Amino acid sequence: MADKPRLTTTAGAPVVSNQYSQTAGRNGPILLQDYQLIEKLAHQNRERIPERVVHAKGWGAQGTFTVTHDISKYSCAALFSEVGKTTEVLARWSTVAGEAGAADAERDVRGFSLKFFTEEGNWDMVGNNTPIFFVRDAFKFPDFIRTQKRHPKTNLRSPEAMFDFWAAQPESVHQVTILMSDRGIPVNPARMNGYGSHTFSMWNAEGVRHWVKFHFKTQMGHKTYTNAEAEALIGKTRESYQEDLYNMIESGNFPKWTMYIQVMAEEDAAKQPFNPFDLTKVWPHSDFPLIEVGEVEMNRNPENYFQMVENAAYSPSNVVPGIGFSPDKMLQARIFSYADAHRYRLGTHYEALPANAPKAAANVNHYHKDGPMRFFTNDFGNPDAYYEPNQYDGPVADFSKKEPPLRIDGDADRYVVEDADADYVQPRQLYLEVLDQDERNRLHHNMAAAMGPCSESVTERWLAVLERVHPDYAAGVRQALKDASDVNAIAVTDDSAIEAAE
Ligand code: HEM
Repeated sequence: MADKPRLTTTAGAPVVSNQYSQTAGRNGPILLQDYQLIEKLAHQNRERIPERVVHAKGWGAQGTFTVTHDISKYSCAALFSEVGKTTEVLARWSTVAGEAGAADAERDVRGFSLKFFTEEGNWDMVGNNTPIFFVRDAFKFPDFIRTQKRHPKTNLRSPEAMFDFWAAQPESVHQVTILMSDRGIPVNPARMNGYGSHTFSMWNAEGVRHWVKFHFKTQMGHKTYTNAEAEALIGKTRESYQEDLYNMIESGNFPKWTMYIQVMAEEDAAKQPFNPFDLTKVWPHSDFPLIEVGEVEMNRNPENYFQMVENAAYSPSNVVPGIGFSPDKMLQARIFSYADAHRYRLGTHYEALPANAPKAAANVNHYHKDGPMRFFTNDFGNPDAYYEPNQYDGPVADFSKKEPPLRIDGDADRYVVEDADADYVQPRQLYLEVLDQDERNRLHHNMAAAMGPCSESVTERWLAVLERVHPDYAAGVRQALKDASDVNAIAVTDDSAIEAAE
């Protein structure tokens, strides 16, 4: 006991034993008054919180963002104000579909979330490792996610559901192509890019708005696993990302990304041959070249995973003056969805948790008060200033920080885009102009492996979507499906031959 700190209850009273319960006689029963035991058991029962409804499996790190190039002509955001300026960042990467215990090296899109703790509040860049997404309307998101999760009866993942859904949403073929390509299984977060994916906006000190896309390019270079490599790895460890990331950072081999933006003048949006606010489309780099902004370096492992990574609450609604939204309707829905998810998963005051609390805490002044787990005092040093406006010099809104006006017109309606040829143009370019023949072959086989158990009707409907991208794409996947079914047929024959010999 001499030099060790004293164990206490949560109320600070000395714990007299952490080994022996208080019983009537040598065996029991236990006395209800052994509140120290009851407290311990009750706490164990409350150690879990709901896992994220999507992106449940994740890995986090802390680090810095450093400005290397001046972009003040596009954004007046404080974090970009001068070259050399640094801002603390909390990163979390994730897979989308698996539960919190899923294997790391699964074929899936990766989440790529960065929380920048700027002096004007937190800016959350909640992106993916792909520049586009599966669907372009928020109505489709919950159903899409349902197809990625477990079937209600079999409790298994269902390729039938995935490809049934995708076959009915040709807009998804661009993202499915990326998912089934070599990029589908990065070896760890340091070896993949991050993208804001949506179109966002920036405005400068003169109030001029531009549309922007965010890109974070890995400085360590892309590295990916094939299906076979990933399967072998998962047989050895399900935690390869956590291991790689943790060990890289502990050994000083810090993962780094270069941040770039693509920029489009506000008035040019209407002149594009594609819809720049459609999340299923990229902006051609030839027309909108990458403009370098800075560097993100991850150099610290969080002291406590749960406190800093499980409690991390990212939201596209967290923007700062100089960075804004766009008319992308998926983005608009996400502005609602994340903070709502956090209030459910973490509680009302989740922004005050250490993972999320703005570093410039002295600048956090709001009139939201009570509710579960209110553990902060925000009375501005004056208990009379508990409403607004007030005569006690309580905090007031700053109209000078408002975004420049955005002209919006059009009829409020539900706009149907059906069977748009435009949905096949960029996947076709990706298939023909970006992927070489070896990459296309692997794409065909990866897709066939993912589709293997699908019914004929789903298979044919999906092949019809691929046909519209390019006949070679459909033919390649059809052949790969046949190759896979021939291999399975041989395996069965071999097996029955052995059985006959026994
Ligand atoms: C309307 C479409 C979408 C909706 C409604 C939606 C909703 C959600 C929800 C509810 C979560 C769980 C949040 C939590 O509990 O912490 C989540 C996580 C996430 N989403 Fe989305 N999402 C959408 C589209 C997207 C898109 C397009 C991207 C990427 C460009 C994306 C990236 C992420 C990431 C990275 C996370 C994990 C954040 C973390 O690391 O904690 N989501 N999403």
